[in-house]
Amino acid sequence: MHIDEIDLYDLDAWSERVLHEELAILRAQSPIHLNAMPNATPFWAITKADHVIEMSKNPKDFSTWRGGTTLDDYGEEDIGAIRQLLINMDPPQHSKFRKLVSRGFTPRMVRLMESRIRDDISEILDRVLPLGEIDFVTAIAAELPLRVICRLVGIPDSDFHLIFDWSNRLIGFDDPEFQTSIEDSRIAAMEMWQYAQELLDGRGGRRSEDLISVLMNAEVDGEAVTEAEFNGFFLLLSVAGNETTRNAISAGLLAMLENPEQWQKLVDDPSLASSATEEILRWSTPVIYMRRTCTRDLNFHGVEMKENDKLALFYTSANRDEERFEDAHVFDITRSPNEHLAFGVGEHFCLGASLARLEITLLFEALAERLTDVQLNGEVRRLRSNFIAGIKTLPISFSQRQ
Ligand code: HEM
Repeated sequence: MHIDEIDLYDLDAWSERVLHEELAILRAQSPIHLNAMPNATPFWAITKADHVIEMSKNPKDFSTWRGGTTLDDYGEEDIGAIRQLLINMDPPQHSKFRKLVSRGFTPRMVRLMESRIRDDISEILDRVLPLGEIDFVTAIAAELPLRVICRLVGIPDSDFHLIFDWSNRLIGFDDPEFQTSIEDSRIAAMEMWQYAQELLDGRGGRRSEDLISVLMNAEVDGEAVTEAEFNGFFLLLSVAGNETTRNAISAGLLAMLENPEQWQKLVDDPSLASSATEEILRWSTPVIYMRRTCTRDLNFHGVEMKENDKLALFYTSANRDEERFEDAHVFDITRSPNEHLAFGVGEHFCLGASLARLEITLLFEALAERLTDVQLNGEVRRLRSNFIAGIKTLPISFSQRQ
């Protein structure tokens, strides 16, 4: 493949496969590469781990606030709205808000959730394992993160399906199966916003351990979370916590099916689940890239960049960087060290990382203990997206271990 033929924006290509071949060529030949975009300004594709880290740690030159975290060129109205989300803020605003919302993500909170997550996993597996044949994505991979995030936020069980539908519509805007227009994504966001407001209103002054209560009672330097900030955070969490974890779980099982000796290792020793989780995250990299925007004209490792130039930090590429990982293209659940970048790095390092890690670890531990003769049983279909590495269907057959 010639370097000029590479297009990392190509949605149809991503719906077929993860573009590892293209990314490897760019890492070797053009690690800071200008990629064209249909009807929009081009972007710099950053494919080496060291560069991704350097840029992530320099929000002054490489901002998220200016243009958000995806490659679209937003109009003034939309950019104003997305700037209310934590993930699109720059310091010092970001540091302050992050400090506030981190109160809900302490190790103690995550530990409190552990036994509840174990119960959720048992409930889900008790229900679906007798079937012998399932679509792993809908039956298990989507179900667990949805339950966990709804519990975390304090959403009643009867409303879980609403969150599921909204988050699909919000993130799936490039996939015709989920919706027909970007307009629908806006409607979903609005509906969600309204729902968050109702949740808040219905809460009155009641206090409990869930995130709504923690956030509504948190203060930093005398400042509390405003309603708009709360609603935006609710929206961000529902999307960030659902799709990503779902896709890590699905891609993890697929990797096990494609590397049966690794699955066998896990079955023989389920205590490897935690190290397997890190390899699943590196291997699957659910978030393909995050965008940054240059705040001034600058020179980055010999490349001249202009103010407002767009950059895509390709975690998918950084996680297969041959200079960072030995045998980078081998799936090895015992890999150590495994300093992958699936959760990003620096200021915006994923707030839900320990929760996601816990969910994946507990689930794979349980799967290794309870499943046997797992086989692929139909077509694996990928999400049409260059942002989220998504798996839409993963049909499997299996038996239950006695
Ligand atoms: C396997 C699952 C997950 C992956 C791969 C993932 C990945 C990421 C990435 C790449 C970022 C941005 C890093 C950057 O821009 O430098 C991020 C940020 C974030 N994630 Fe996750 N995430 C996952 C699960 C979750 C969960 C379960 C939650 C919530 C419960 C969550 C909440 C967030 C939030 C709030 C941010 C924004 C943090 C900030 O801007 O300071 N994520 N995540």
